[in-house]
Amino acid sequence: MSYMFDASKPIALGADHAGVQYKNEIISWLHEKGYTTKDFGTYTTDSVDYPDFAHPTATSVETGEAAFGILFCGTANGVAMTANKHEGIRAGLCWRAEVTEFTRSHNDANVICIPARYVPIELAKEMLEIFMTTAFEGGRHQNRVTKISCA
Ligand code: RB5
Repeated sequence: MSYMFDASKPIALGADHAGVQYKNEIISWLHEKGYTTKDFGTYTTDSVDYPDFAHPTATSVETGEAAFGILFCGTANGVAMTANKHEGIRAGLCWRAEVTEFTRSHNDANVICIPARYVPIELAKEMLEIFMTTAFEGGRHQNRVTKISCA
């Protein structure tokens, strides 16, 4: 299976204190695989507000600086809600392999949101493999994705 995003661009990552350990482990895992990353924090387990990290991660994807985004918080709801305020972002909350596959093939997601408190790290890696290698199907799904916008 091949990588579906622009390999010349870094992958953007962000997390709050509940997701920082997963973020750091995933960054190491991505580097081992030869990917480049841009880490928008947080960098410690001190309590923080997830929008402060989800917004810059989303902006990096929205502007085309990053290939796609990976966000973590406890439930992944906070980072997903924040990222989806950005017009150019389709952030999907993923907690199992099948959901992740459809998040790409049906929703053309450009940000994956992972609930670090409820998903084992090995499943997070499995979902990322799927997210990075699954193509958007287009067709009837393109019509639906086009209708998401409020702009
Ligand atoms: C932090 O305790 C928690 O509220 C946050 O990580 C996330 O789950 C919010 O949606």
